[in-house]
Amino acid sequence: MNDLEKIVSEAIDQFASTRESAELERVKASYLGKAGRLTEMLKGLGKLAPEARRESGALINAAKERIEAALTARRAAIALAALEARLAEESLDVTLPGRGRGRGGIHPVIRTWQRVEAIFRSIGFDVADGPEIESDWYNFTALNNPENHPARSMQDTFYIEDKDSSGLQLLLRTHTSPMQVRYARQHRAPVKVIAPGRTYRVDSDATHSPMFHQVEGLWIDEHISFADLKGVYTDFLRRFFETDDLQVRFRPSFFPFTEPSAEIDMMFADGPNKGKWLEISGSGQVHPTVVRNFGLEPERYIGFAFGSGLERLTMLRYGINDLRLFFDGDLRFLRQFA
Ligand code: DAH
Repeated sequence: MNDLEKIVSEAIDQFASTRESAELERVKASYLGKAGRLTEMLKGLGKLAPEARRESGALINAAKERIEAALTARRAAIALAALEARLAEESLDVTLPGRGRGRGGIHPVIRTWQRVEAIFRSIGFDVADGPEIESDWYNFTALNNPENHPARSMQDTFYIEDKDSSGLQLLLRTHTSPMQVRYARQHRAPVKVIAPGRTYRVDSDATHSPMFHQVEGLWIDEHISFADLKGVYTDFLRRFFETDDLQVRFRPSFFPFTEPSAEIDMMFADGPNKGKWLEISGSGQVHPTVVRNFGLEPERYIGFAFGSGLERLTMLRYGINDLRLFFDGDLRFLRQFA
């Protein structure tokens, strides 16, 4: 039975040299399968005499059990190695420091928007919000820009193909001024409101973006004068720029919805823009025709309006020289305001 010893030790050696279970099962078949070496030996027992058959049978079965035990052990070893390999591959080093989520920040133009709201609220202005898709009646006609009036071409407009339910031409509002009309028609006098929001024009270069932000202001009552405009706007600028050391002037201008109209300029006493007049806002006394479109009698109600660019205010406050930086989404720029 030296043969048996040899077979057992060969089987054990071959099992040990296998690395994965499919290979192990193939080796197993060559010993214990239908045509395996041990199976063949068991088949051969039938030819032996009963005495010898019993003896040989016992020995072969003992050998078979040792091979099976070795097989079971090898199966377990291969499964364990596979598990360990997988665990190593999928391992998480829980001691590594976290990557962090990255904290978001408020966009500088939105910071300005929020500051403007806070300042005007503190002096009794309401804050209103309105549609960016406007009808040409609110955007132009009600603001004293009659149809085909050249003033309409002052602003290059994104028109929308659809008309509204009453057949009015729709467009992306070119300024926040239509909110004067919407708000005044809804709330009646007195009206004291600002309306910040997005506006759109067909325009794109270092100082113009097709989408930009404005804040509209409107104060209408029985005795609101140009002097109130000067007081309110100067106070606003001093608080917005956090300095009393700035000068403000009102330069005659033209807007169809105001008469008289003025461009508001300001000058800092120091800093990079020291001594330069900077244009900051359009403004004026609301035109009687517009007051009538508010649904109010111009003989009784009077007041002022202004419209300022939020990007412009932001650029002056932070010393930013290219408007496109606001819309490029470059984190190196935006992070400075987070
Ligand atoms: N809507 C004007 C523009 O976008 C700005 C403006 C000027 C608004 C004078 C006003 C105003 O309310 O009174 O250019």
